Amino acid sequence: MSEPLHYTGHMDTPDASVTPDAREPLSADLHRLRSLTSIKWTMHDHEVLPAWVADMDLPPAPVVIEAVERLAARGDFGYNFDAACRLPDVFADWQERRHGWRPDTERIRLFCDVMQAVQTALWLATEAGDGVVIFTPIYPPFLSSVTSIGRRIVDCPLDPVGWRLDPDSLGSAIDERTRVILLCSPHNPTGRVFTAEELETVARVAARHDLLVISDEIWGDLTHPGAPPRPFASLGADAAARTVTVSAASKAFNVAGLRCAVAHIGDERIAAGLAGLPDHLLGAVGSPGAEATLAAWTQGEPWLEQTRAHLTGQRDHLAARFAAELPEVGFVLPEATYLAWLDFRPLALGDDPARWLLEQARVALSAGPGFGPHGTGFARLNFATSREILDEIIDRIVTAIRSR
Ligand SMILES: Cc1ncc(COP(=O)(O)O)c(C=O)c1O
Repeated sequence: MSEPLHYTGHMDTPDASVTPDAREPLSADLHRLRSLTSIKWTMHDHEVLPAWVADMDLPPAPVVIEAVERLAARGDFGYNFDAACRLPDVFADWQERRHGWRPDTERIRLFCDVMQAVQTALWLATEAGDGVVIFTPIYPPFLSSVTSIGRRIVDCPLDPVGWRLDPDSLGSAIDERTRVILLCSPHNPTGRVFTAEELETVARVAARHDLLVISDEIWGDLTHPGAPPRPFASLGADAAARTVTVSAASKAFNVAGLRCAVAHIGDERIAAGLAGLPDHLLGAVGSPGAEATLAAWTQGEPWLEQTRAHLTGQRDHLAARFAAELPEVGFVLPEATYLAWLDFRPLALGDDPARWLLEQARVALSAGPGFGPHGTGFARLNFATSREILDEIIDRIVTAIRSR
């Protein structure tokens, strides 16, 4: 690391003259990070170490950066659907190679981001007042994507002991106006990779009540050893035919700002609904996002493997330090993602421990209550950074709590 972690001065805007090289593999150089214009590194003052929004501090894969650089070097910014047209085949190959599921390329379409696809499918599948099953705690935009269009959340809390999906609560939550199961698989914020048995329970319930399943699999490429993810649509013909699967390279390859996502529309009703939307309502993916995604899914595997190994090391280190230094904090080891869903309730830091930690420890975590009512007393920590920055984040949390 080229700079001390503790800053005494403030910089309100990033220093545009600083252009450190982003191609240093698996590093999280603070000098580079402070130069970023991303929300993670500009939301707070420079005293704060951010560990909130789901961007990695590690630079994206060099092959991805180079793909975008080539586009820029050619000044190739005209109407350009070249990479976008190739993505359905490339996504199908990637899914088959990595997850053993070959999506039908005829049913694949691009979206500008994952939540656009989720929101569109929800909008098409439901009417005002219809119910949407959500497994809480959950990535906050899932909640607002339902409530903002006047649909009803059918809350199905995961079992806090291991964050397992509870078949009984799923069965009893569904009423006659429930239309959709909105699945996050792997699950944010808990990091669960649902087992085949859990997913089959969801499939059975969906079939019994004729529900659409929207399966957000954006985290599917960031699993830890021993937890192979299962694409929901691969469970069988009925599951495939009632599922919209959404994915992107954005989490695994750290390119969320480039806005490009892919959806497999297995469900005929949604396919017909999409075909009936006004022509220009959804817009089109930009060429940098499509180029980056193409590079990630065709050349990014070696980098991805290195990154996954690094993230597993970070997860285990965080778990070991919390177990030794803050054993009161509840933490179920995530099987996927780079997110730690931390239960601070035994320490009584209030309903929103992230707020307390921001003030007292000068670290920015994601606020638990935003993940639904079962997030009260929790906070989410993003550990996709260098070991040194993670250690500093943990040091600050431990020191603030122990010196209360
Ligand atoms: C489960 C989940 N879905 C969707 C997104 C956002 O994806 P996008 O920016 O492509 O809408 C995130 C971001 O962290 C996420 O965790």
